[in-house]
Amino acid sequence: MYQRVLILYGSPHENGHTRRLLDDYLARAGLTDARRFDCFATPPLPCDDCGHCKTAAGCSKPDLREFYAAFEASDLVVIATPVYNRGFPAPLKALLDRLQVYYNARFARGVKKPIETPRDVVMLLTCGGRDDCTAALTEQLKPALTVTNATLTATQIVCGTDGEPL
Ligand SMILES: Cc1cc2nc3c(=O)[nH]c(=O)nc-3n(C[C@H](O)[C@H](O)[C@H](O)COP(=O)(O)O)c2cc1C
Repeated sequence: MYQRVLILYGSPHENGHTRRLLDDYLARAGLTDARRFDCFATPPLPCDDCGHCKTAAGCSKPDLREFYAAFEASDLVVIATPVYNRGFPAPLKALLDRLQVYYNARFARGVKKPIETPRDVVMLLTCGGRDDCTAALTEQLKPALTVTNATLTATQIVCGTDGEPL
């Protein structure tokens, strides 16, 4: 059973389709105690490739200090998000880009395991159309997974939400 669950919430809507999918998942998985990072409520600054993390540990920008600590401590990360233009909504994309600190720890500073402890990742997607975008978003997620000791263990998508009542 997971002890430290971190939700990366990518929808601007508190009670939309993504929230419903997330709540269903948490209930089915019996996960009652989870921490949530709400990407639209607290939008991360974008990575501007300042180069700080190529030579030093951590990020030059202070806004995600708590997030990094929670991410490194997590044993399950649940990404719950709508699909925007066959990708992640901008604030969630910014958050994923900020995981570049771990990429540069690994490949610029030679740290073998930037995060020692492993974590599972579950990706929950909603999309308005009928096309299943799981493969496209899984592909976009891959680089972040490889440098954060993370394994995508499950994905779920609800398609055709546009025009569907909640
Ligand atoms: C800017 C924007 C881009 C979108 N792009 C796509 C898309 O590429 N494919 C798709 O099927 N739906 C797309 N949608 C529809 C959303 O994925 C869909 O309405 C989603 O279920 C909304 O979730 P929510 O109720 O949690 O906000 C887009 C919506 C917005 C606002």
